Amino acid sequence: MNALITGISRGVGFEIAKLFLENAHTVYGISRTESDELKALEKQYPDHLFFKNFDLSDPENIKQNIFKDFITNHIPIHVLINNAAMAYDDIVTNLNYPELKTMFDVNLYSPMFLTKYAIRNMIYNRISGSIIHISSISAHTGYKGLSMYAASKGALQSFSKNISREWGERGIRSNIVVPGYMETAMNAKLTQDHKNRIFKRTALKKETDMQSVAETVLFLAGEKSKSITGQEIFVDSGTL
Ligand SMILES: NC(=O)c1ccc[n+]([C@@H]2O[C@H](COP(=O)([O-])OP(=O)(O)OC[C@H]3O[C@@H](n4cnc5c(N)ncnc54)[C@H](OP(=O)(O)O)[C@@H]3O)[C@@H](O)[C@H]2O)c1
Repeated sequence: MNALITGISRGVGFEIAKLFLENAHTVYGISRTESDELKALEKQYPDHLFFKNFDLSDPENIKQNIFKDFITNHIPIHVLINNAAMAYDDIVTNLNYPELKTMFDVNLYSPMFLTKYAIRNMIYNRISGSIIHISSISAHTGYKGLSMYAASKGALQSFSKNISREWGERGIRSNIVVPGYMETAMNAKLTQDHKNRIFKRTALKKETDMQSVAETVLFLAGEKSKSITGQEIFVDSGTL
């Protein structure tokens, strides 16, 4: 399979890219920077990992930069994984429009445009493709300071469900993976006390394992999940 994955320089996106490569798939990856661990992975898989640096806060240039300069219709895309996101954490009384707009560009509008062009590519290549969006448990349970971020993820979830109805007849699937708290750069500012309070809300009393998220994404990408679409799969240590 050829998979287009956003946010591959670190964190969950890197783990997903690594897992796809280990399973003999080809990865077309996007992020703004090329981390050392990503460079090492490119060296390991020179024929199967292709990288494009692009800032997803600029959805209007996705067509030219990603679907013309990087991937053309002659490269069939079997899987799109909308993983890249940013968190604009604050209480709503401090809300600023420029930060809010940038976050929605990255977390919602770019995934929508990537979906648009990925589906066009799938139709052109007669592929029953799979689209997977990474949401967040914050879209389901309230956390102080995450209302704006959670709103961007909630909108993405509604988008995915409707895409599954719109394109199901063409065999194209769309699903959401909902991770709980993971130890990544996104959460670098949280104190141990804050983390403990998050863990207490989970049945397993611990963080979510990134590998478990990546394995779920791989499952949703392939034939084994061919009857699953329009769903939200929680990988969250049981946040109930
Ligand atoms: N960490 C958690 O606890 C948690 C919980 C639930 C859901 N999630 C979700 O899981 C996904 C992955 O998060 P993570 O924790 O792995 O975050 P992360 O460690 O901060 O990584 C984010 C990735 O997205 C890329 N990215 C961010 N802004 C971008 C932009 N403007 N243009 C292009 N790429 C951009 C980053 O690359 P560059 O900086 O190089 O551009 C990086 O590769 C996200 O959708 C997040 O919302 C995370």
